Amino acid sequence: MLKLYLLISLICLVRSDTDEICPSFTKLSFHSAVVGTGLSVKLMLYTERNQTCAQIVNFTALGNLNVTKKTTFVIHGFRPTGSPPVWMGDLVESLLLVEDMNVVVVDWNRGATTVIYTQASSKTRKVAVILKEFIDQILANGGSLDNIYMIGVSLGAHISGFVGEMYDGQLGRITGLDPAGPLFNGRPPQDRLDPSDAQFVDVIHSDIDALGYKEPLGNIDFYPNGGLDQPGCPKTIFGGMEYFKCDHQRSVYLYLASLRENCAIAAYPCDSYRDYRNGKCVSCGIPQKVSCPLLGYYADSWKDYLKEKDPPMTKAFFDTDDKKPFCIYHYFVDIVSWNKNIRRGSIIIKLKDKDGNITESKINHEPATFQKYHQVSLLARFNQDLDKVAAISLEFSTGSVVGPKYKLRILRMKLRSLAHPERPQLCRYDLVLMENVETFFQPIVCPKLQM
Ligand SMILES: *[C@@H]1O[C@H](CO)[C@@H](O)[C@H](O)[C@H]1NC(C)=O
Ligand SMILES: *[C@@H]1O[C@H](CO)[C@@H](O)[C@H](O)[C@H]1NC(C)=O
Ligand SMILES: *[C@@H]1O[C@H](CO)[C@@H](O)[C@H](O)[C@H]1NC(C)=O
Ligand SMILES: *[C@@H]1O[C@H](CO)[C@@H](O)[C@H](O)[C@H]1NC(C)=O
Repeated sequence: MLKLYLLISLICLVRSDTDEICPSFTKLSFHSAVVGTGLSVKLMLYTERNQTCAQIVNFTALGNLNVTKKTTFVIHGFRPTGSPPVWMGDLVESLLLVEDMNVVVVDWNRGATTVIYTQASSKTRKVAVILKEFIDQILANGGSLDNIYMIGVSLGAHISGFVGEMYDGQLGRITGLDPAGPLFNGRPPQDRLDPSDAQFVDVIHSDIDALGYKEPLGNIDFYPNGGLDQPGCPKTIFGGMEYFKCDHQRSVYLYLASLRENCAIAAYPCDSYRDYRNGKCVSCGIPQKVSCPLLGYYADSWKDYLKEKDPPMTKAFFDTDDKKPFCIYHYFVDIVSWNKNIRRGSIIIKLKDKDGNITESKINHEPATFQKYHQVSLLARFNQDLDKVAAISLEFSTGSVVGPKYKLRILRMKLRSLAHPERPQLCRYDLVLMENVETFFQPIVCPKLQM
């Protein structure tokens, strides 16, 4: 009997201890999702000195929040199963790694958890009002709107927009990670995130054909892989739960990569994904900047330039790899051919370095047109950045399986890196490609003065 009593008190002790010391994100069951949940917002503060253990704060108790520092709010979206977002811990930790700031996790799992999307969506304005009360308190204690940053995922992106609107766009920055599309698509600006909601609004669209918002919503809108289907995500329902959320969640993982990985993801301002793939948008024309806009945390370095435009909105496209760190490296393959007749087809190019690393790019999104003595510049995308290329292979295909095999007669091919224009350009002269046959060769450094 005594033993049992001791055991129970021990369990109670342990439980109340952990509850008090480190509050955690609300965990709900699928049952809660089925019956639906009423709104309750929990604000969890993480700081440099308390990176893994949250402190619960509210508008009457700011806790250890230092109002002179930047405060970043992380706001999740719809939770159809009640589980906590899997990326939340990583995002908090990574933000604190790059800057000494206050990170406030906005846990509105009670409210967002329901199988009925419209119920979750209908609570977004109320969440925004609660956040405004809290921010007002930061301001009353000497904080500044310039230092407020909101990262909103899906419905959370529109919540951020509603908060920003209540401050007439004076909020420092909003990042929308695949802002929710259903019920928001086509709505007027006051009913969704828009560029006037903060001093700078950047958006990543990764699932525009399903859960995400299609049209631009920010000062810069990044469309990875065109914004539709993300590489590495299941393409059919047989992929299970991943099929529904993988594309949508990719926006969060891309943002995380900007904090964590040592390769920067550059995006190319362009009117369409097709123009980007056709290599029409490779010069950003941004004065005083060595690179095109980078996706993620550091996107605000381009703020002044992007806000100068009229209207202050830019769409930017780029492709990614199918896994972390997601970076790909852009090259141009310039080909001058001398076939008598026009040839149309696709090219596969492989690069190999001295250590035997091989990386491949298929340029097959639409047929390239090779015309006698005309230069065609093809945009090649590789998932490795091989510094010293020792061998190159090219393969030409017209796509027809039956019928005659064609040859592509190349007068000159030139390979140049977009990210590293200072690297020597590699050339090869006089080469005949047999259709569907891989042809290896050693390139030479192109002579300085090229026709
Ligand atoms: C860390 O978090 C705990 C639990 O919320 C809190 O009691 C403590 O004051 C925090 N410490 C610092 C230095 O922020
Ligand atoms: C705010 O937090 C303090 C300290 O945790 C708590 O005592 C108080 O009841 C909270 N106020 C509200 C309105 O939730
Ligand atoms: C708050 O942050 C400022 C600026 O980083 C720093 O100078 C100050 O010491 C901090 N205050 C506290 C109480 O930690
Ligand atoms: C190339 O291969 C070597 C040895 O296998 C490896 O250590 C290196 O990281 C590779 N380089 C790249 C750019 O992938």
